[in-house]
Amino acid sequence: MRGRTVLVTGSTGGIGKETARGLAARGARVLLVGRDPARARQAAEELGAGGGQVEAIAADVTRLEETARVAAWVASRCDRLDVLVNNVGASPPRRTLTADGVEVTFAAHVLAPFTLTRLLLPVLGGRVVNITGGIPGGPIEPDNLQAERRYLGWTFSQYNHTKTMLMAMSLRFAEQVAGGGVTVNVAYPGHGHTPMNQAMTMTGFPYAYRPLVPLLRVAAPRLFGDLTKPARSSVYLASSTEVDGVNGAYFSMKCRRTAWPAGALDPHGQDAVWALCERLSGAVV
Ligand SMILES: NC(=O)c1ccc[n+]([C@@H]2O[C@H](COP(=O)([O-])OP(=O)(O)OC[C@H]3O[C@@H](n4cnc5c(N)ncnc54)[C@H](OP(=O)(O)O)[C@@H]3O)[C@@H](O)[C@H]2O)c1
Repeated sequence: MRGRTVLVTGSTGGIGKETARGLAARGARVLLVGRDPARARQAAEELGAGGGQVEAIAADVTRLEETARVAAWVASRCDRLDVLVNNVGASPPRRTLTADGVEVTFAAHVLAPFTLTRLLLPVLGGRVVNITGGIPGGPIEPDNLQAERRYLGWTFSQYNHTKTMLMAMSLRFAEQVAGGGVTVNVAYPGHGHTPMNQAMTMTGFPYAYRPLVPLLRVAAPRLFGDLTKPARSSVYLASSTEVDGVNGAYFSMKCRRTAWPAGALDPHGQDAVWALCERLSGAVV
């Protein structure tokens, strides 16, 4: 990765930070994004301590203007961005809106990757890696894209729903950039004992999963404390020569190309998600 520049969102903690660490260790120049300025500064110092080139910006990518600020910051620092990893995640226990009036999980998992990718296309010369999660694959509900109708159900969660939407949006993006030197792929990280998971309350889980939550709380630090594991698939998609030219593909936590879930392939769902992203990002794109 020497000579390559990589931007990882949500990279001052959790899986994003481990992804950034892995890419810095491979010689990449790494640009970090997190909301908290002190955490951002600290992460850049920590990851750059071995001599690597690591810089950070404090910004909330669920806010459109801040996403635009990140894109401008990147463009002011490099003529070419080789890899964009859209990693930011969110999982509030109930439906919440950003200050722009967008449902938070939709903003974090779908609108931010869409907007940042679009804004960075003029400098993007390589790979976009979008991070999915949860249990994606249920149908996209066009009348519920921002959880207007339901946020949690027996097995439904808007978190999973927005990850399916991210995959649908990634497929559509991959079609649009095909043949132009940019690729768009999706990585599944697997579980990690991260700040996001630690902050999740019982009421944030679909009803059917709640009995398992106490067990997960006890087991998670031991089973999922090593965040290099969930960072493997994103590091692989960002850096491996094995995926040179691969576009529109979905990779498992074991870095294996795998079938897209049915919900992501539905053209009507893709249309609905794409149209909403275009409409909402219109103010800055
Ligand atoms: N953890 C898991 O088990 C798991 C499993 C499957 C998939 N995933 C997916 O993997 C990705 C990373 O998950 P994670 O658990 O590592 O998340 P996390 O714990 O929330 O990640 C924390 C990092 O993201 C930053 N961040 C959070 N919201 C941000 C925002 N709006 N704008 C900019 N930076 C932001 C945080 O810094 P600040 O707080 O300072 O902003 C911190 O650097 C997400 O897409 C998630 O859905 C996670």
